[in-house]
Amino acid sequence: MADSENPQEDISVPPAFEGGIEVAIRSRELSYSPYSSFRVGCCIQTKCGKYISGSNVENASYGASICAERTAVVRAVMDGHTDDWACIAISGDSLQQCISPCGICRQVLREFTNPKTFPVVMLNGDGTKRRLMTLEELLPDSFGPDDLHHTA
Ligand code: THU
Repeated sequence: MADSENPQEDISVPPAFEGGIEVAIRSRELSYSPYSSFRVGCCIQTKCGKYISGSNVENASYGASICAERTAVVRAVMDGHTDDWACIAISGDSLQQCISPCGICRQVLREFTNPKTFPVVMLNGDGTKRRLMTLEELLPDSFGPDDLHHTA
């Protein structure tokens, strides 16, 4: 249920996601973000309960920076997890508002998930504000792996 005083807030996040939420918040401490000073942490939780964390890693050539979500995606794939993700939780440094994943990260998450059902938990810096959306809500009518198999 959305909080009427703060429509961004939605605390109806399943209890099973609490572990991943904690990991996402703590992962901000490993952020390398000297240019933006905006730390982001995230956690992909697998269906068997494994936590795969990520943080944003910036670069002096700003465009070479990588978001927390993509850090976690790369780690998940390298750990052999490509098709068993339960959810992702993301925490940004703002206390006022929940972070929302960037467009590139939405597309990268799309590669390994069923967008219709994959839950994205968006958090503020301490987890007191929470939003829950499916990836499809964040990235409607998306292009994915199956779309490559329908050539003429
Ligand atoms: N950032 C993320 O890590 N994830 C997002 O979803 C949005 C933005 C990072 C990129 C950059 O290091 C910093 O936040 C400021 O944009």
